[in-house]
Amino acid sequence: MAKIVRLEPIAQESSIETNGNLLSVLLNKDLDVLKECGGRGMCATCHIFVKEGMDALTPINRREQRTLEVITSCKPNSRLACQSRVIGNGVVVELPPGMYINSLQDIEALIGRRADQDLLHPITGEVLVEQSKLITRSMLKQLENTASFRVGEFYTHSKDV
Ligand code: FES
Repeated sequence: MAKIVRLEPIAQESSIETNGNLLSVLLNKDLDVLKECGGRGMCATCHIFVKEGMDALTPINRREQRTLEVITSCKPNSRLACQSRVIGNGVVVELPPGMYINSLQDIEALIGRRADQDLLHPITGEVLVEQSKLITRSMLKQLENTASFRVGEFYTHSKDV
């Protein structure tokens, strides 16, 4: 039987088959989810907050737990959408504010502009550039020096791969 999920950011409800993946609800509604790790439970880009109905989702698995521990904006009601299956009604989902970026090129294209929202690290969810801050070349240099930003490398070195 279909279950109803409410998506707070767009104030809409969506139905999904029992045991359906929560990430598919977000994608069906064209919410901007990078799914940087391809739905393997290893990045921050499908991080959501469950405002209501945590019991209506499958429990957190070990991989999800480990990733949530790394995400800086993690709260007690955090989940990874790709690891959550909907088993009951009444799930209300909120997305963390900001935009995840998946490469330094993304930021490079924005040099000289002010960030219209926080720019977030795709694995840790850390705020790389705050909203309304001017994006400069020196800022890009600083980010380049942050080894943890190299997403591909992170996966290569991760024990999970
Ligand atoms: S898509 Fe990466 S953890 Fe869900």
